[in-house]
Amino acid sequence: MTQDELKKAVGWAALDYVTPGTIVGVGTGSTAAHFIDALASIKHQIEGAVSSSEASTAKLKGYGIHVFDLNEIDELAVYVDGADEINGQMQMIKGGGAALTREKIIAAVAQRFICIADASKQVDVLGRFPLPVEVIPMARSYVARELVKLGGQPEYRQNVLTDNGNIILDVHNLKIIDPTRLEAAINALPGVVTVGLFAARGADVALIGTANGVQTIK
Ligand code: 5RP
Repeated sequence: MTQDELKKAVGWAALDYVTPGTIVGVGTGSTAAHFIDALASIKHQIEGAVSSSEASTAKLKGYGIHVFDLNEIDELAVYVDGADEINGQMQMIKGGGAALTREKIIAAVAQRFICIADASKQVDVLGRFPLPVEVIPMARSYVARELVKLGGQPEYRQNVLTDNGNIILDVHNLKIIDPTRLEAAINALPGVVTVGLFAARGADVALIGTANGVQTIK
């Protein structure tokens, strides 16, 4: 199977976690896009969605799925999203698609985070994938210097502005032994909006696409 076929398999498998009559939290990226395709097949059974990016919102609306503002809702049963890396403790690196801030907000609201990923995203230690950090533009150089002190090599993601109007620094060469601690340390830097480490709030369920089918990890 190709990587995209594995992504499609987990995107459709995530439908099992959607309860009819509810609002569904929807992530961003190519795996989440398969989930949106799947969600469209049951669109008359759900109330609508909350979305983590303008791209996912456009795709949801294209299917005629109502997209709620997060401020309109009090609770969210599930949030379904991909990941750039996931470790054995269900902690993730996210933000390859620059949507990390809205993803983290919706993940915080959701009762359950369902991570959908092909098996290439599984790692023992997070950090091979450059860690995305969303930064207020005027703080770019300062935050970059601080990230170097934390042991990384930040690289400015050229020609990318997030949906929130900020920039992304991708931090290379990190071997993240203590993800929760690094998440807190980077979050504490003035000018950082969000770090793409989802450690304090990881996934509750991971659906992993493998050549032998979809593996469920809880
Ligand atoms: C976007 C994300 C995505 O979930 C992550 O980049 C995985 O993307 P894909 O499903 O395309 O491999 O965090 O900000």
